Amino acid sequence: MKKVFVNGYGTIGSRIAKFIKDDSDIDVIGIGKHSPDEKVQHAINDGFSVYVPEDKNDNFKDYNISGSIESILDNCDLVIDASPGGKGFLNKKNIYESRDIKAIFQGGETIFNSNRVADVLFNSRVNYAEAFDKKYVMQGSCNVTGMGRILNPLREKYADKLTRIDVTLVRRWADLEQTDKQIDDTIEMTENPHHGTDVKAFFGKDIPIFVRAIKVPTRQMHLHIMDIRFNENAPTSDEIHELFKNEYGIAILWRAKGTKDIRDFAESTKFNFKDTNMLHIHANMTTSIGDTIQLMYSDDQTGLVIPENYMLLQAMLFQRDYKDALKRTEKLFNMDEKKKLLEEHFSKKD
Ligand SMILES: NC(=O)c1ccc[n+]([C@@H]2O[C@H](COP(=O)([O-])OP(=O)(O)OC[C@H]3O[C@@H](n4cnc5c(N)ncnc54)[C@H](OP(=O)(O)O)[C@@H]3O)[C@@H](O)[C@H]2O)c1
Repeated sequence: MKKVFVNGYGTIGSRIAKFIKDDSDIDVIGIGKHSPDEKVQHAINDGFSVYVPEDKNDNFKDYNISGSIESILDNCDLVIDASPGGKGFLNKKNIYESRDIKAIFQGGETIFNSNRVADVLFNSRVNYAEAFDKKYVMQGSCNVTGMGRILNPLREKYADKLTRIDVTLVRRWADLEQTDKQIDDTIEMTENPHHGTDVKAFFGKDIPIFVRAIKVPTRQMHLHIMDIRFNENAPTSDEIHELFKNEYGIAILWRAKGTKDIRDFAESTKFNFKDTNMLHIHANMTTSIGDTIQLMYSDDQTGLVIPENYMLLQAMLFQRDYKDALKRTEKLFNMDEKKKLLEEHFSKKD
């Protein structure tokens, strides 16, 4: 059995830990907390051993802490770092490297410049096997993961016909659980968004993709608006929907008025954390005009990368065959059932 430690128990870390603990080949030996708040007790109540930084131990006297992060890492096969963006790099330098353990980093880190955490940016649909013999790998952010999942099938089918892809990322301001984070009444522009460069990390620098990003005052998912240009007449909308029909982790919806409808449905159907863990193509918005396909899909910001982290962990720890890894991911996440329910609920009206 492989020993896995999840360092950071926020939006992403808590979800990862709660899902992967059900894999009988993995022992989640603990989670790392850095602030002595009520979430420490939540984690303990959830059945996890909680570890804290050695130099902060005294702050956690009110809780039943199992030990220091530094000591538990001495006895660990892989750490999933789910710390706030930029902290993963510091953790790598300060506590992972010297212990010679494998580590997965999240999308708030970078694989460029002197702060890079890894050489590989992972997307299970694009470069699954590349993670097999790597010590450090970064999981793409939710937006980067979403774009990879949409672009790879397009690239496979229309490789020599795609001439240009323009993407506008409409990003959520905060997550549902971040109730202390104020949402400002403004539309914020993002200069030099990292997402295009990140996508090129796995598709190659020559892919003709141009990404713009804005942030809007909502907690209810991201929306990607994509214009895909061809060197001839574009495929029909039906052909595009057919292409994604059997793609894992993509649902095709016709009657969702907005992203909140999808989360509300996820909540009513008791999906874990109100997450769908997938992308939702808003099929009623797809148009084929001349050489261009206009496509819109929403991206479950909190859920999308959780099954991806599990795919990555399986590649790094067990070098599992892709199909086997997907089968095991399905067992933990029930994505096919979620997709079926979503597609039925938001089906096309006759
Ligand atoms: N939120 C999303 O929708 C989303 C989606 C995709 C990717 N990501 C990426 O996932 C990563 C985590 O984001 P998040 O939204 O989960 O953040 P978050 O909710 O703020 O949680 C961060 C967690 O990291 C802990 N932490 C603080 N300092 C740490 C350190 N030095 N080392 C280890 N852990 C530390 C925090 O502990 P305390 O609470 O105890 O201080 C907290 O539990 C980021 O790289 C982010 O870009 C986020």
